[in-house]
Amino acid sequence: MSAPTSTTRMVRVDLGGRAYDIAIGAQLLDRVGELAAPLLAAPRVVVVSDGTVAPLYGARLAASFKKAGIETGSVTVPPGESSKEFAAFSRLMNDLLDLRPDRKTTLVALGGGVVGDLTGFAAAVLLRGVDFIQVPTTLLAQVDSSVGGKTGINTRHGKNLVGAFYQPRLVVVDTDVLGTLPRRELLSGYAEVAKYGLIDDPAFWDWCEANGAALIAGDAARRAYAIEHSCRAKARIVAADERETTDLRALLNLGHTFGHALEAETGFGPDLLHGEAVGAGMALAFDLSAKLGLCPALDATRVRHHLDAVGLPVRLRGIGGNNRRQWSATKLIDHMRGDKKAEAGRLTFVLARGIGRAFVTREVDAVALRDLLDTAIAA
Ligand code: NAD
Ligand code: GLY
Repeated sequence: MSAPTSTTRMVRVDLGGRAYDIAIGAQLLDRVGELAAPLLAAPRVVVVSDGTVAPLYGARLAASFKKAGIETGSVTVPPGESSKEFAAFSRLMNDLLDLRPDRKTTLVALGGGVVGDLTGFAAAVLLRGVDFIQVPTTLLAQVDSSVGGKTGINTRHGKNLVGAFYQPRLVVVDTDVLGTLPRRELLSGYAEVAKYGLIDDPAFWDWCEANGAALIAGDAARRAYAIEHSCRAKARIVAADERETTDLRALLNLGHTFGHALEAETGFGPDLLHGEAVGAGMALAFDLSAKLGLCPALDATRVRHHLDAVGLPVRLRGIGGNNRRQWSATKLIDHMRGDKKAEAGRLTFVLARGIGRAFVTREVDAVALRDLLDTAIAA
């Protein structure tokens, strides 16, 4: 790879023969072609983006490939989760094949987690597998979904139930593109940033409490620091447990058992974004940990307080905008049972013994869980 500039930070995802770099910095969109060129099997790429991101950044990305002598095609999908439906995936595959790619063509995902998951899965199966590069443009994608090779699409049975572990060849994070991201999307990504502190890094959680508000308000240095720190945390976990065969990678699912139930109940739609669900889910996971006597009550209070203070919806009655709903503990528990993390009907939770001390358990008392949900619904 060509030498990064002094302001570009590099994080390695150490996966032996499939290792790759995450380049993080300002204005990197203009350097994707130069960074990618040495890694391409042939100087041909197809950029997949969505209808919001392509008009904002597609031309700059194409210019960077052109400057590096790389032929570029493009396909645009509608923005939003619906592009991860099977029918949309089928359309994408045909649109890609219309461009007559060969097995040396590289796909480039320019967008948030939807475009990244979709393009990664397309790359895994197009012509039985072509390379792909991630250029994530949401905070959530920059700190989580673009790293680690989980790719997939949705089915009527649930989200991400068809997919593959398929690693990118390179991830390029241009921190400046967050400047156009709606605040709500930024906050949703921030929940995933804070998650790394809660899992195993109490000092980073302290940093989030002190710096989260400034990061969200637009402080570039704090954003860059948080993205790099998050990518290092994720790279370390993925390198140690790429396919979630031990419980290590499963720690990244902190907040997800509750979050999945909340998302399922709100229809996986605009009433609750994925990161918002993770934020509310992390607050509930710490509440449950405190209720079970595993974690100091003060730690659960800190988690709820900070996420609430930055503007994430942590109270159930605050979820849903104008579509406030009648929550039911029974329905939420049913959704949890349908989650792909449930094993033979047993729910899997990531709980904590304190901030930065998360662990996986399949032994949660059903009465305590229902009681916690009833309390959260009433609050
Ligand atoms: P998203 O991809 O839907 O993007 C959110 C919205 O922001 C979209 O409307 C998009 O067009 C817009 N957008 C993106 N970048 C922008 C920019 N720079 N400026 C202006 N608008 C911009 O949502 P997301 O939160 O990035 O990703 C959610 C998806 O990620 C879900 O499908 C979830 O399942 C998946 N996910 C995957 C993993 C993984 O490990 N693979 C992890 C977490 C989440
Ligand atoms: N986002 C969870 C994981 O990558 O494992």
